[in-house]
Amino acid sequence: MPPCWTLSRGIVLTSPVFVSKDMLRIRVLHGPNLNLLGTREQSIYGTLSLDVLDSAIRKLAKELGVKVDLRQSNSEGELVTWIQESRTAFDGIVINPAGYTHTSIAIRDAIAAIGLPTVEVHLSNIHQREEFRHRSYIAGVSIGQIAGLGPTGYLLALRGLHDHLTASRRHKKTAAPVTSRRTAKGTR
Ligand code: DQA
Repeated sequence: MPPCWTLSRGIVLTSPVFVSKDMLRIRVLHGPNLNLLGTREQSIYGTLSLDVLDSAIRKLAKELGVKVDLRQSNSEGELVTWIQESRTAFDGIVINPAGYTHTSIAIRDAIAAIGLPTVEVHLSNIHQREEFRHRSYIAGVSIGQIAGLGPTGYLLALRGLHDHLTASRRHKKTAAPVTSRRTAKGTR
């Protein structure tokens, strides 16, 4: 239960979730059939459910001080919409596009269009499996790909993306300001 305060006249304030202006925001997207984790082809994908995986991701996000938003969809269009929406509301994306990895130019285009650092994750090692899984349309627009490490792959992806975003923020802050010619009169 999130903390909750009751005000007079029945006005209730719930979940005072504090999101600092500087907090990194990462969206985690799970593609089709990942809602079946725990029961689906256990010899390949293991026995962990999506809920348990999401809890582990949330726990790490809390430790890292990252705001996470986790979503799963079986629909390509919905994933594309969530990626597009992320442009202004998030700093980066972790995505397991599942079966769409090997087919979806639309998801690839959405990631390229928004230009947010994106990490691709797969529970299984797609490169050791059937030939049709070796191709990823997403890898070319991702900063990295993690495959074959099971649920740990998501945690590594979150950590890696956090480090990447933190480093690029630091770089932006410390980059020398460009001195305009007009303001630098007589300094030539
Ligand atoms: C997967 C690998 C894909 O080839 C497959 O279609 C999935 C899951 C993985 O996490 O290993 O649904 O993305």
